[in-house]
Amino acid sequence: MTRVASGRIGLAPMEGVIDVITRDLLSADGALDWTVTEFVRVVDTRLPARVFLRHCPELEHTACATSNGTPVHLQLLGSDPDALAANAVHAQALGARQVDLNFGCPAKTVNRHDGGASLLRDPERVHTVVRAVAEALAPLGIAVTAKIRLGFDDKQVALACAEAAEAGGAAHLVVHARTRREGYRPPAHWEWIGRIRARMTIPVIANGDIWTLEDYWKARTLSGCTDVMLGRGMLADPWLARRIKHWQRTGEHLPETPWTARAEVLTAYAQRMRMHLPEKVVVSLLKQWLNQMRGRDAEAASRFTVLRRRTELSAFVDGLAPAKHDDASLRPDVALRAMS
Ligand SMILES: Cc1cc2nc3c(=O)[nH]c(=O)nc-3n(C[C@H](O)[C@H](O)[C@H](O)COP(=O)(O)O)c2cc1C
Repeated sequence: MTRVASGRIGLAPMEGVIDVITRDLLSADGALDWTVTEFVRVVDTRLPARVFLRHCPELEHTACATSNGTPVHLQLLGSDPDALAANAVHAQALGARQVDLNFGCPAKTVNRHDGGASLLRDPERVHTVVRAVAEALAPLGIAVTAKIRLGFDDKQVALACAEAAEAGGAAHLVVHARTRREGYRPPAHWEWIGRIRARMTIPVIANGDIWTLEDYWKARTLSGCTDVMLGRGMLADPWLARRIKHWQRTGEHLPETPWTARAEVLTAYAQRMRMHLPEKVVVSLLKQWLNQMRGRDAEAASRFTVLRRRTELSAFVDGLAPAKHDDASLRPDVALRAMS
């Protein structure tokens, strides 16, 4: 691997996963350059402020940034250019500093209602939507960006969609390196991002299946992109962005993320989620996150086997505690009990 000395890293939007608390926890080490909200679905009306604030509480509290100052971009999903433009303007009035448009969502209900990846079937529609939002936001001094897949059914339209987004006025383009039909199945086609990047003048950001430092390097090499966006890889290894930035700076490899660090993130997540959500929901969210970690970490896998049957939050968090020989400075069980 030939070291690269720079390159920005964004945290991918993930509906039902990357909320205000997750954005805050994952950006806390300062290694992420920006984050994106879950999508706000726009149909044909101007949404009330509470909808934006629910998806992006940072609008109200921290000038649209996480608590350590990492910018939060607000994502809209829809197909009606006027409604999207009106909602983008509303979001700006509420404090949004950058608006992202979702052209990648593969969900059947969303696609049936003509949103997300379904617009990729017609590059002209991508252009019309991006242009409407870009023109509405330009006088307000904020940018619109777009996030696409490589197409809906096949990759024939990938370049045309990317060009349409650029011509419409997108300030950058994130490309998830699969079509909608390919879902989340590996491999991610990073070389296709390279073909797109070669035709673009705006920054293109590579996304999809970056789980490790080695993947990061490969994705950059094959796509030629300087910047990347990390999704599930950040859940599997909350040190991934830090690992990449450390390597950029020093050329050194950080050690494997220790269980204590994983337990610390999960425990902090439990504590903060419990303030808003019922115990059962928090336990199920914790299982979801631990499930993401277990494919990448043996300790997470063995904890998951035991913890998947637990239904009480305190018992679940007890089960995250490091073994006696681990770093004794971290006792998530004690932390959670003190809170409850
Ligand atoms: C559970 C889940 C929810 C997602 N929600 C969104 C979303 O709201 N907006 C969006 O643009 N992409 C969404 N995505 C796609 C991710 O942003 C990203 O493009 C995809 O997961 C590939 O990156 P990764 O392999 O690093 O996870 C979602 C993906 C997952 C797995």
